[in-house]
Amino acid sequence: MDPAKLPQHIAIIMDGNGRWAKQRKLPRAAGHKEGVESLRHVLQACGELGIKYLTVYAFSTENWGRPQEEVDFLMGLFSFAIDREINSLVKNQVRLQFLGRLADFSPQLKKKMHDAMEKTKQGGRITLNVMVNYGGRAELIDAVNEIIEHRTQNANQRIEEQDIQAHLYTRDIPDPDLVIRTASEFRVSNFLLWQIAYAEIYVTPVLWPDFRREQLLAALNDFSKRERRFGKL
Ligand code: IPE
Ligand code: IPE
Ligand code: MG
Repeated sequence: MDPAKLPQHIAIIMDGNGRWAKQRKLPRAAGHKEGVESLRHVLQACGELGIKYLTVYAFSTENWGRPQEEVDFLMGLFSFAIDREINSLVKNQVRLQFLGRLADFSPQLKKKMHDAMEKTKQGGRITLNVMVNYGGRAELIDAVNEIIEHRTQNANQRIEEQDIQAHLYTRDIPDPDLVIRTASEFRVSNFLLWQIAYAEIYVTPVLWPDFRREQLLAALNDFSKRERRFGKL
């Protein structure tokens, strides 16, 4: 693969865990668990390919509306995955960030997420952003409120594009070049509304627990053929 034609930043809507489990007559939880394995494989492949940023949608602001049992399972799974993976992330120089409204999580989970971010913050090989309790609208609301709170002088000055950009959760990273959505849904579901303005979109029928290195390479091959124009000729 021509490195010049690889995206710098890949964002993934990891969808289809429930359907994967259903096909196998397993509880939905089994699909979520297998989904963590897919993330491990995809992260490793991205690291090897030299991709600098991987952003994955793990829990949306709307996902609180699922049955309590499933929400509880997912919270436990985040915690379990952090414990199991943290040493390997540090060793492989992965900078892990949890982005979203973390304040709504339990004190224990919040602490675990903050500790994991602290432990991996020097990771220079690849940044993994795990979006949790994340909504694109919530992020924009949080950005605007931060701007207002931080304004002391020039209170009537217009808010410009760079002001919004500078207050997003993703303020320190470039916009995604490629958004992958698994499990055949052709929708954005409140993911990175601002940042995907000019992202290339790739939808695959593959369910997230089945999405591994081979499926990533297929997406990258497709991306390498896109002509990006950014509105220009
Ligand atoms: C994506 O898989 C994971 C989360 C939203 C947490 P789903 O749980 O949405 O799986 P489907 O869409 O029901 O198959
Ligand atoms: C989007 O998937 C959220 C995550 C992958 C975390 P959903 O399964 O929640 O989205 P909808 O409900 O199909 O739009
Ligand atoms: Mg879904």
